[in-house]
Amino acid sequence: MKKQIQKNEPLILIGFMGTGKSTLGEYIAFHENKTFADLDKVIEETVGKSIPSIFKDHGESKFRELEGEFLCESLEKYDIISTGGGIVESTSAMNTLSNLNNIIWLDTDIEIIYNRIKNDSNRPNASNKAFDDLKRLYLSRLSRYNEIAFSRIDTNIDIDILYQNLMNILNANDQYWRA
Ligand code: S3P
Repeated sequence: MKKQIQKNEPLILIGFMGTGKSTLGEYIAFHENKTFADLDKVIEETVGKSIPSIFKDHGESKFRELEGEFLCESLEKYDIISTGGGIVESTSAMNTLSNLNNIIWLDTDIEIIYNRIKNDSNRPNASNKAFDDLKRLYLSRLSRYNEIAFSRIDTNIDIDILYQNLMNILNANDQYWRA
């Protein structure tokens, strides 16, 4: 489906772990006076467990089901949603995202990402992974990010410039926030 920015749909940030989705989402929400949800946090708070505990106690596939479920709920409640890097592994989330327009893919070099997340024990799919394994996971997801995104931005720049670049994309395609 060809995407077109729509002002009545939330802004959804996708991309691999460590690309700055939550930080940017929070930053835009603050500057644009919008509501924001970090989907990982919504899941953790609702289930009452950390992501590593959900993976350990219920398995990754259960986590992917929860992502699909809470994505749908969050779409009704928030203006901006940052998703987990593995949301593209969730069949139900992919079905939902395929029908949405305002999806921005945040991306940067895998070397930078690796250095940001390699020791993060809160990320079960990154902790203790060798560079080559993480890169393989990253490469395996690229086509799915690309498939559902309206646009891709490299996030290895100052956050204020990143924010301005994103607003330019949104406003050039619709009076998304300002109308
Ligand atoms: C995951 C990414 C994480 C989180 C979970 C699984 C993944 O989100 O959803 O640890 O498989 O890529 P972030 O992208 O916010 O780290």
